[in-house]
Amino acid sequence: MRTKVTKAIFPVAGLGTRFLPATKSVPKEIMTLVDRPLIQYAIDEARAAGIKEFIFVTSRGKSALEDYFDHNPVIENELKRKNKTKLLEVLKETDMDSGAIAYIRQHKALGLGHAVWCARRLIANEPFAVILPDDVIAADKPCLQQMVEAYQETGGNMVAAMEVSPEKASSYGVLDVKDDMGSLVSVQGMVEKPEPGTAPSNLAVIGRYILTPQILRNINGLDKGAGGELQLTDAIAQEIPKNNVYGYRFRGQRFDCGSKAGFLQATVSFGLARDDLKDDLQAYLHEIMSVEKAAQ
Ligand code: UTP
Repeated sequence: MRTKVTKAIFPVAGLGTRFLPATKSVPKEIMTLVDRPLIQYAIDEARAAGIKEFIFVTSRGKSALEDYFDHNPVIENELKRKNKTKLLEVLKETDMDSGAIAYIRQHKALGLGHAVWCARRLIANEPFAVILPDDVIAADKPCLQQMVEAYQETGGNMVAAMEVSPEKASSYGVLDVKDDMGSLVSVQGMVEKPEPGTAPSNLAVIGRYILTPQILRNINGLDKGAGGELQLTDAIAQEIPKNNVYGYRFRGQRFDCGSKAGFLQATVSFGLARDDLKDDLQAYLHEIMSVEKAAQ
């Protein structure tokens, strides 16, 4: 029986410069898709996968995140007084069991690998998940749950993987595939942000991982990688000779909510998926598309 994955790290210490000026005072992870912040989607996905301990790696200016998972007696009392039971129910999504959530500071934005390493003492010697909240994945079965199920068979280290076009590959970590078994691929190499035309495949790593604690020890010995940062990809790549690194082609649609275009696409898509918004939004989209076509 494998050790269950019950801990997840949420690295949220990045500066979010692509969303300036908004991110000057609002953490990127608090920005909302329809009416829920990005972090809520990440937490829901983790819960569905059986995660019980939620470790946030934060930085200066992220206190709104801590407040989000705290009780707000003013709002709660007001809703109770007005008997707004539905809204009280909605607020429950933000409830966290006492002691289930921990915040660790990353004092300098030294990269994703470093952010994950900052949580090492809370992980100790267990397998753990990493979720990047700006990768939002719409799926019938949540992505991390799919991965946890596959991990029960494989163990080792697993990264979520997605096909990307050759021109986009240089923005991602890319897998060099050894055996392609369908949903699962075994990996013989990984390259972070390959130079255009040099990517070993079109399978890109996106922000969901299940990792062994050895990865934390590997990060300890890393030199700075691409972009002068400590790259998580480099620490995972060190495990490849042990034949225990897998890519998992998840079923679902991923939105890059760390970019403006991805965030807008996700907003439209999640809006269209909502019964209370679909009709109005669809009508509006038709209207602007037909005006656009008429103008051409
Ligand atoms: P990004 O590469 O999207 O960087 O980080 P960023 O700072 O969030 O955004 P931009 O590029 O300036 O707009 C990917 C994930 O890794 C976390 C981020 O919070 C995000 O969840 N991260 C990145 C850290 O926690 N610490 C770091 O030093 C770097």
